[in-house]
Amino acid sequence: MKDKQHVLVTGGAGYIGAHTVVELLHAGYQVTAIDSLERSEQRIVEGVSSITQKEFTFTKVNCLDAAALDQLFAANRFDAVIHFAAYKSVNESVEKPLMYYNNNVGSLLVVLETMKRHRVPDLIFSSSCTVYGQPDHIPVDETAPFKRAESPYGATKQLCERILEDMTTEGLRVVSLRYFNPIGAHPSALIGELPIGIPNNLVPYVTQTAAGVRAQLTVFGNDYATPDGSCLRDFIHVCDVATAHVKAIEFLNHLKSPTVCEVFNLGTGVGVSVLELVKKFIEVTGVKLNYKIGPRRPGDVEKVYANPHKVMQALHWKPTYDLGQSLLHAWQWEQKIRGLVN
Ligand code: WQD
Repeated sequence: MKDKQHVLVTGGAGYIGAHTVVELLHAGYQVTAIDSLERSEQRIVEGVSSITQKEFTFTKVNCLDAAALDQLFAANRFDAVIHFAAYKSVNESVEKPLMYYNNNVGSLLVVLETMKRHRVPDLIFSSSCTVYGQPDHIPVDETAPFKRAESPYGATKQLCERILEDMTTEGLRVVSLRYFNPIGAHPSALIGELPIGIPNNLVPYVTQTAAGVRAQLTVFGNDYATPDGSCLRDFIHVCDVATAHVKAIEFLNHLKSPTVCEVFNLGTGVGVSVLELVKKFIEVTGVKLNYKIGPRRPGDVEKVYANPHKVMQALHWKPTYDLGQSLLHAWQWEQKIRGLVN
């Protein structure tokens, strides 16, 4: 069955997209990956080929291009779509809200219209724990209400989930995966995260500081109501995030219902502080990381980590990498792209 199933991955050259293409190919799926290559690079596509030694199709397509998407669906029989294509910087979304609404919501609408026209029923959507804002109860489960999103980025994810809920009456079967903090890189160091410019996210900033690309890491605040004063997060290895997408496809394959709308928190369930992560990085890499404590970053939630019970039960999935391995893989990838190792 899997050898025949054909999955379209949008944003397939992106961070989580590329790692998911690897896992889909390993699992025996036929894959077509598309990406605008606006914020990713062809070398990631080559990295996927090197890792898997399997054939797959890659085409440069922007999901806002309805004609190109229609042509692609007309030329292929897709059994499911995994939709990653979106902008994901919280800070940038605050500076450029219209660009985020247009791209993140607009591309989903084009994908949905094209899926409907070509009768492709199954969609896995890339959502985010940012939909919760600062949850009232930690660890957070899927019943937690959406609070006012802290950023336009978070608002686009809330809006997209609402659109998907309303689409199920049209015969769409959707699973939304709410990522917590994906980190790390493939153990081969052939693919990983390629942040553009100064990284917003913690781990790329840590590895770039360790590589000497950044002078010093600033820990944004150590006066929160947490054990060591720094924020708590749920850091999950990107390969574990990727395998959950394969499990989500299989979950839909086993459902007979013509309409499905499920959401799963995709985290480890372990809350780790920023300072704990910094110390773990130093421990596993042996690198003396130059960091200081700075002021809080506006918009940061104090603590958020998942209750992963639902995803573990329903998708028969569990995380396989721990924090140390995730940080080591992130560091190995950084060293590779900076030419610090061959
Ligand atoms: C984590 C912690 C910072 C940088 C991310 C994504 C968002 C969503 C959820 C997918 C915070 C601190 C950071 C630095 C620091 N994922 N930090 N110094 O804000 O939890 O959101 O995960 O949708 O898209 O952005 O992640 O890595 O930016 O910050 O101290 O230089 O690290 O204050 O407490 P965040 P992050």
